Amino acid sequence: MSVFAHQKKDEVLVLWLVSFAFSLALMGKCVTERRVKSIPKNALVFLIVLMYHFLMRFSQRVCVAPMMDVTDRHCRFFHRLLGPDVFLYTEMLHSLAIINGDSDKLLDFDNSEHPVGIQLGGNEPRILNQAAKIASKFNYDEVNLNCGCPSSKVVAGNFGVALMRKPQLVADCVKAIKDGASISVSVKHRIGIDDCKDYSFVRDFVGRVHDAGCDIFFVHARCAVSNLSPKKNRDIPPIDMFKVRFLKRDFPDCKFVANGEFDTVAKCRSILEKKKELSLPGVDGVMLGRAIRRYPVLLTDLQRAFYPKKNLRPTGEIITCLENYYHLQKRKGINSRRIVRSWVNLFNNKKGSKKWRFLLAEGVAPMEAYRRVFCS
Ligand SMILES: Cc1cc2nc3c(=O)[nH]c(=O)nc-3n(C[C@H](O)[C@H](O)[C@H](O)COP(=O)(O)O)c2cc1C
Repeated sequence: MSVFAHQKKDEVLVLWLVSFAFSLALMGKCVTERRVKSIPKNALVFLIVLMYHFLMRFSQRVCVAPMMDVTDRHCRFFHRLLGPDVFLYTEMLHSLAIINGDSDKLLDFDNSEHPVGIQLGGNEPRILNQAAKIASKFNYDEVNLNCGCPSSKVVAGNFGVALMRKPQLVADCVKAIKDGASISVSVKHRIGIDDCKDYSFVRDFVGRVHDAGCDIFFVHARCAVSNLSPKKNRDIPPIDMFKVRFLKRDFPDCKFVANGEFDTVAKCRSILEKKKELSLPGVDGVMLGRAIRRYPVLLTDLQRAFYPKKNLRPTGEIITCLENYYHLQKRKGINSRRIVRSWVNLFNNKKGSKKWRFLLAEGVAPMEAYRRVFCS
């Protein structure tokens, strides 16, 4: 897959143009000064390093987790306004539903949502291959395979976290997805399941899947427990972030995105940094779920902290974008409650949050609700 896939095309073009002009200027200078043989190597090395830095930048450094019944297209549009550079994911979509269902309805999304990955559920390589083909037509930036969902229905269907016990099948699924879509393929998984909680279990799982060509892993740093509900299993047993660092140590050429209970910039920063005293590396990215759902505005803090071009929009502009999008979707016949169900949290923890939530839920459009709550 192209390393440029997640970069905005114009950004890449500008970089190439600047680099090209710079190289030309350097050469011109050397020629006019009759120093043809002494092209400044250091400057060229610097240039290559600089370009490498920008072009190979890991796009999934900060991600919003896939969340069923939460991260639909309306939610992602909203998240994109708050965090212009974070990586977004769909909810888990079963591969069979994509093949047999209304793919336009399931997969279509707004162009502004890029970079966005689609998360697939399933365990049949042939079906996943077809689903990935369909998804790639919609221009998703990544296909992620769910190997972490512990719901009893999912486990009974032998997908989600049940796949962690079948690493060879996951490897086959990854190969099939890669054959179907010429985009990045990743896997989201847990650090263990029930009695399989030794580090060697997750290490061997990652090793086998990596051999099949997957090099991005999203690690929910908690074991799956069969007799717990998915809701409880998001808090019990405790998180073990060391295992994610161990994975990074043991597979240094893979990218590891840590997931689980991140709710502040400081916690995210800490896992990205090395643990020098233990000689353990930092991980490559962080994925946040519930904290973003509860306090979407945390995305603006993450954007400010982790992206050099801050690109932050003032609140008024965000409300205007929501307003335009809201009317567009309503004209398409989408139910207003569905459109705003994640937007209602925008002002959580602020005075006026309850009224904002109430008005939106009652069908008042965002601009009018904002005026009534904050400008009266
Ligand atoms: C409402 C909800 C729905 C979820 N749905 C999915 C899903 O579709 N696919 C998935 O891989 N994980 C799903 N998860 C798990 C999250 O992606 C994430 O791994 C988990 O919440 C831990 O991260 P957090 O502590 O930052 O919330 C869901 C979590 C929640 C709260």
